[in-house]
Amino acid sequence: MIADMEELKATYGLIGYPVSHSLSPLMHNAAFKALGVDAVYKLFPLKEEELKDFFKKLHDDDSEIFGLNITVPYKEKALEYCDVLSPLVQKIMAVNTIVINKQRKLIGYNTDAPGFLAHMAELKVDFGEKRVAILGAGGSARAIITTLCMIPERPQSIKIYNRTRARSEELLNDIAQRVDTSLIELVDDTDDLNVELADVLINTTSVGLKKEDDLLIPEEMIHSDLFVYDLIYNPKETKLLRLAKKAGAKAASGLGMLYYQGILSFQHWANIQLDEETKLIMRESLEKAIK
Ligand code: ATR
Repeated sequence: MIADMEELKATYGLIGYPVSHSLSPLMHNAAFKALGVDAVYKLFPLKEEELKDFFKKLHDDDSEIFGLNITVPYKEKALEYCDVLSPLVQKIMAVNTIVINKQRKLIGYNTDAPGFLAHMAELKVDFGEKRVAILGAGGSARAIITTLCMIPERPQSIKIYNRTRARSEELLNDIAQRVDTSLIELVDDTDDLNVELADVLINTTSVGLKKEDDLLIPEEMIHSDLFVYDLIYNPKETKLLRLAKKAGAKAASGLGMLYYQGILSFQHWANIQLDEETKLIMRESLEKAIK
């Protein structure tokens, strides 16, 4: 494995705007160190007008960049710069991982979706016939909603609330072009999410990032049979997660999803399976960073 990895003396990184708060460098640089690989993972904060030139240069033979992650707000925009899109990317229409191969071709993957499912598997959350309520219809919601429509253990229903109705409509119309979305219902009010009857509540919005943020749903709706997943992992415990635990519900943050998508991205770049020890080091680097 190390022989393979020695070809990885290169630069990897994250494109987005902003990217300064990202934990990805911690995780990937910890892996390079653990594996004794002379490579580095950097942050590339790029403005929209800088994207074209950045992607163009990736094709140059002397480019030191061999792999990228893409984050907000470019996961959809990056599609047009890829030479090849994985079948999953073609379903989700969002790319968060790019491999630059020996011919300097850009191959786009999505590891958010399998990262989400891997975390759900770890938590033993099964969606089969479950009633799922989702808050938000932004970039993070896209991968999760498409995934839930595609998995064999399909939920019974998915209700989605977004502050801006036009955005959730646009997302649904787009997803519906490629997957069966008949189980989805858009609602105009958080009351209509029927959280009190739901089995799973997923927050994909940025509400909760700030300590003073109010809940989007009435606290009384949270019940002990609910699984609450908040994609926000910093702070470690949002108000939503704290109240969910208080109500006796099972609750988890998106730190596990961040970890699994990172593992899967790394494995795409290096074309190896990471060993358990390195994976543990990567996970601990994330957990230590979020206190
Ligand atoms: P991300 O990639 O993290 O999903 P995003 O695409 O900017 O980021 O989406 C942010 C999500 O949080 C959206 O669903 C947004 O709702 P709008 O589409 O109405 O903007 C939601 N959001 C952000 N601030 C919010 C607030 N104060 N109340 C309700 N929803 C909010």
